[in-house]
Amino acid sequence: MDTEDPENKSISWVQRFEEAFAAKVGASYAIAVNSGTSGLHAALYAAGVGPGDEVIQPAMTVVMDSYATIHLGGVPVFADIVPETQHIDPADIVRKITPRTKAILTVSWQGLPVDLDPILEIAREHGLVVVDDSAQTMMGRYKGKISGANAHIGVYSFENKKHLTTGSEGGMIVTSDPELATRARKFAGIGYKHMTSTAGRTHLALSAVQDPSYERFDTIGLNYRMNAVSAAIGLAQLERVDHIVARRQACGRLFLEAIAGCSWMVPQRVATEIEHSFYTFAVDYRGEAERGVKWKDFYHRYLDLGGDGFYGCVVTPYLEPALRGREFGGRRMERGLCPKAEALQLRVMQFKTNYRDLGLARQKAEILSRLIDEIGR
Ligand SMILES: Cc1ncc(COP(=O)(O)O)c(C=O)c1O
Repeated sequence: MDTEDPENKSISWVQRFEEAFAAKVGASYAIAVNSGTSGLHAALYAAGVGPGDEVIQPAMTVVMDSYATIHLGGVPVFADIVPETQHIDPADIVRKITPRTKAILTVSWQGLPVDLDPILEIAREHGLVVVDDSAQTMMGRYKGKISGANAHIGVYSFENKKHLTTGSEGGMIVTSDPELATRARKFAGIGYKHMTSTAGRTHLALSAVQDPSYERFDTIGLNYRMNAVSAAIGLAQLERVDHIVARRQACGRLFLEAIAGCSWMVPQRVATEIEHSFYTFAVDYRGEAERGVKWKDFYHRYLDLGGDGFYGCVVTPYLEPALRGREFGGRRMERGLCPKAEALQLRVMQFKTNYRDLGLARQKAEILSRLIDEIGR
């Protein structure tokens, strides 16, 4: 809630950013928050997740998706992935549905939008809410729609490394459902009674609020609101977002060319109706099995030739020390829950795509190509 003063007609930076963001992604409502993690928490709250409720989520993602579930008293239920896309497997979602399932949390991973229609259909059949974690997939497109805005609720992150940043931390929740928007906004806005789907303002007469009997809060929430400075930075970034995303995509294409014809570096499969926004250039590295070159040896050889350091994939959430060995809703977090994700996690290589200078990106891609030739394409 920006103010309870109805005389204050200025549109805040947060409101401007929210309105511009909603318009950009094609959602009716946008709610600015202070991180992607808090956005996930508020989105799952809005979806109605409460104690004992199960949230089906992919085994290849960051642990913050699990945190959001667990902080609501919910149970993260992991579905295995389709290795070719690195995304949640709809067939495994169906296998994991129980009477306690409340929501499906998909993750548009590495910049690649999830093939959402089959998942929305499963959700419709079972009366579930679909939340898409599009933290890594700003402006990825799915059948012409923007990733995140095509789910019941979508969540983005604006921390430093993301396509769009609000300085260092930030996030956005989007939805076209007014009830979900109101619930998310109230939860993220310390539970102010008069918050609505569109804004924090009350438009109440001063005589109503300047009264000791005026009750302000009707929801047990948290203060997850974005600050004005972050929103102003986000708004400026949003004006350039097409350029920022296009540059990452250009880097992605350079790396795709570099690995062309190599059987043991397999990029994510991109269906024709999907546009990858290349948060990273992520490949399934099979060089150890096919050429006898270990992941870490490849890493060092690439660096020695002048390449940049690249990342491995995050550890499967239930194997992170924060969760490993613990039980939620009678489900033990242990190795073997999702074998495909566990195996692929060890092979993935994530090359950076945030080069400002495409000439430099080309140079790195050429080095990668040279190394692949050295090993034997
Ligand atoms: C897929 C995914 N989900 C959620 C998050 C959490 O976002 P934040 O770091 O803004 O809390 C991140 C980023 O770190 C992420 O990559």
